[in-house]
Amino acid sequence: MKLLVINGPNLNLLGVREPDIYGKQTLSDLETLVENYCAEKSVAVDFYQSNHEGAIVDRIQAAYRIYDGLIINPAAYTHTSVAIPDAIKAIGLKAVEVHLSDISKREAYRQHSFTSEVCIATIAGKHFQGYTEAVDILLSVTGNEKV
Ligand code: DQA
Repeated sequence: MKLLVINGPNLNLLGVREPDIYGKQTLSDLETLVENYCAEKSVAVDFYQSNHEGAIVDRIQAAYRIYDGLIINPAAYTHTSVAIPDAIKAIGLKAVEVHLSDISKREAYRQHSFTSEVCIATIAGKHFQGYTEAVDILLSVTGNEKV
């Protein structure tokens, strides 16, 4: 199985950004954790982070027929973007949405996700563990034949 992990705007600032909400570890720490977890499970994984909605749409489109699953934290675009879920739907990629914080318990404007409609699961409030749980969910629905 080959997975793509996409992190949206401001997640490049993990460790600096509101550490009481998002923790003190960096994006690089997160990617290392997920990479090691995937290696244990013989899953291939690539990472992408962008602060730009169109760049995220382009990266999703480029994933067509290349990846077996997508783990995406669209960050603020979760609550505003129709283009990102449209791209996921367009290429028919199985996707799991992850949020570090529990968006259901935060400001009202964070409580709706356009992305969740096209994802097989949404994990929120489990910090980095949400990403490793997303790997397990995708493994359970996709299997691991293609590595
Ligand atoms: C987030 C939650 C979003 O509301 C916020 O805009 C983010 C991060 C999270 O991981 O908890 O940037 O997606």
